[in-house]
Amino acid sequence: MLDFLGDLKRTHMCGTLRASHAGEKVTLMGWVNRRRDHGNLLFVDLRDRTGVTQVVVNAERNAAVHKKAEALRNEYVIAVIGVVKHRDAGTVNKNMATGEVELVAEELRILNESKLPPFLPSDTALTNEETRLKYRYIDLRRDVMQFNIEMRHKVAKAIRDYLSAQGFFEIETPFMTRSTPEGARDYLVPSRVQPGTFYALPQSPQLFKQILMISGFDKYFQIVRCFRDEDLRADRQPEFTQVDLEMSYPQPEQVWEVVEGFLQAAFAAAGHEIKTPFPRMDYDEAIRLYGIDKPDLRLPEMTDVRECFAAENLQELAVNPNLPVIAIRTPKVGELSRKERDDIKPMFHSKGGARVFEDFKRIANKFPDAAAKVKAKTQAADDDLIVLVVGPAESGPQTPLPAHRKVSPQELAIYASAGLLRLALGQKYADRHNCFQRGDYRFLWVTNFPMFEWDESAKQWMAAHHPFTSPHEEDMYLLGVGAGPVSVKDPQSSLSAVRALAYDVVLNGTELGSGSIRIHRQDVQSTIFRALGMTDEEARSRFGFFLEALEYGTPPHGGIALGLDRIVMILAGAESLREVIPFPKTARAVDLMVDAPTPVSDAQLRELGIAVKKS
Ligand code: AMO
Repeated sequence: MLDFLGDLKRTHMCGTLRASHAGEKVTLMGWVNRRRDHGNLLFVDLRDRTGVTQVVVNAERNAAVHKKAEALRNEYVIAVIGVVKHRDAGTVNKNMATGEVELVAEELRILNESKLPPFLPSDTALTNEETRLKYRYIDLRRDVMQFNIEMRHKVAKAIRDYLSAQGFFEIETPFMTRSTPEGARDYLVPSRVQPGTFYALPQSPQLFKQILMISGFDKYFQIVRCFRDEDLRADRQPEFTQVDLEMSYPQPEQVWEVVEGFLQAAFAAAGHEIKTPFPRMDYDEAIRLYGIDKPDLRLPEMTDVRECFAAENLQELAVNPNLPVIAIRTPKVGELSRKERDDIKPMFHSKGGARVFEDFKRIANKFPDAAAKVKAKTQAADDDLIVLVVGPAESGPQTPLPAHRKVSPQELAIYASAGLLRLALGQKYADRHNCFQRGDYRFLWVTNFPMFEWDESAKQWMAAHHPFTSPHEEDMYLLGVGAGPVSVKDPQSSLSAVRALAYDVVLNGTELGSGSIRIHRQDVQSTIFRALGMTDEEARSRFGFFLEALEYGTPPHGGIALGLDRIVMILAGAESLREVIPFPKTARAVDLMVDAPTPVSDAQLRELGIAVKKS
């Protein structure tokens, strides 16, 4: 028989009782975390989100309560009225916040039962993730999940407070809208009122926030859900949350300062101090040193060691002296076994014909002078692992580069292959080099991205960030906007040289956020659409409303969006966003708890004017 709550009121939370409460009569409510039966004494660990208190039920003092307590099972919901008592000296539990006291039960109400759960919140070994997601409400009762979700709240609140204090307004933008080009597929919502038409869920509030600048709000932010139908990975969910902001008239540094400020506040809310300003690095520099645009600064940078080798050494190794010879140093790996050395080759994913020399010892035996120079240049200790990545033996002519670009496409392929191997080796030998210490947060601004990327499969230029990003003012002439140092006859031929006023904030190898200074002139925006292969008609039909808005006095503006889930994931030391999102989706974009997506009834489809093809 279950009890009613009646007029009982909870007086304290389970995790809050201390020695100073001894002698007080209190009422706790919560879940039975564990029950131990010692004959006449029955112990119940009572849990709520703040922690656990040990409740003692003594058969000699209160036989009726003891009898009732015998029926308790894990995850029953109960109310206990009792008196707080110091624990006997020998039974004090220093590992528990409430370990100095216990609650001597005088009255017990069983408010609800629980079926035997598929796993217990107190289980130390984790059950498989499918079960955790199906029974998410039980999974969320676990300490770690309670901690992560509380931290998420604190981080979001710190960001809100910080931005509000800086004069930003939090303004909502629609979820039922048009497609925004952020590079993923849209989730579509059919309209019943206008059959055959669809809203798109926003991939980001990009155009709305720009329009808010046109509308005079000056500083906008939103902690906002975004939706992207893309291949999912540990750091990607179909629904995720951005800290999105936009400002009028900013220099990039002013946007960075705001981001550094709110990240400092967010990390402080989670108990971590971080130093600002963050270091800054050009995209080209990031590629040369790390082979990637989101460098993990915790591992040593890569070094071009081609000068350490004599020309004939390189010839013997069939290495093109005009391309970089990249040394990857992984600290403290020690002597590798034959098998461990052989395992490096399959870890290497060659781009553009790049090759790996995984056996540096063999090279050192052959060319001791060169090897000594490599070790000196990379500052390698004797127990550091060195692996070399070089270009293809046969390589065609180098593409000429504009003066401000430092990395050619051929070089990019070699750097990128090396960069991925650097990370893979760093992961593989993490327990040896100790570079990945918890709480070591290495932030970085990556700047001066290229404006366009060539998409080989679509055979056209794509916007590297998004098409609303402004090119560098000095590079505008390359697009045929304004005059420049040389005259440009065919803008399409110089697109690879155009730099964007775009920036990313990176933390320990994860892209936390991306932003840019935007195009505020209609003529420049139309030029960019054309460069991206859009006809004026297409541009008008997709973005006509926006092109029109740009014509009514648009101030220069810029902003950024950071992934809130990613920030919290890193703070929680978690491997996946699923650990910090209360109700996440699986890698197949399924919500296992509510079982979504699902087919809908024929009547619903008919109403929407939709017919589903059975495959
Ligand atoms: P971008 O597309 O780079 O930029 O997204 C910004 C940040 O959002 C996070 N993010 C994601 N997090 C989880 N799951 C996903 N599927 C996912 N996709 C993106 C990342 C990323 O850095 N409108 C621009 C911003 C701007 O220019 O102001 C935008 O959305 O942390």
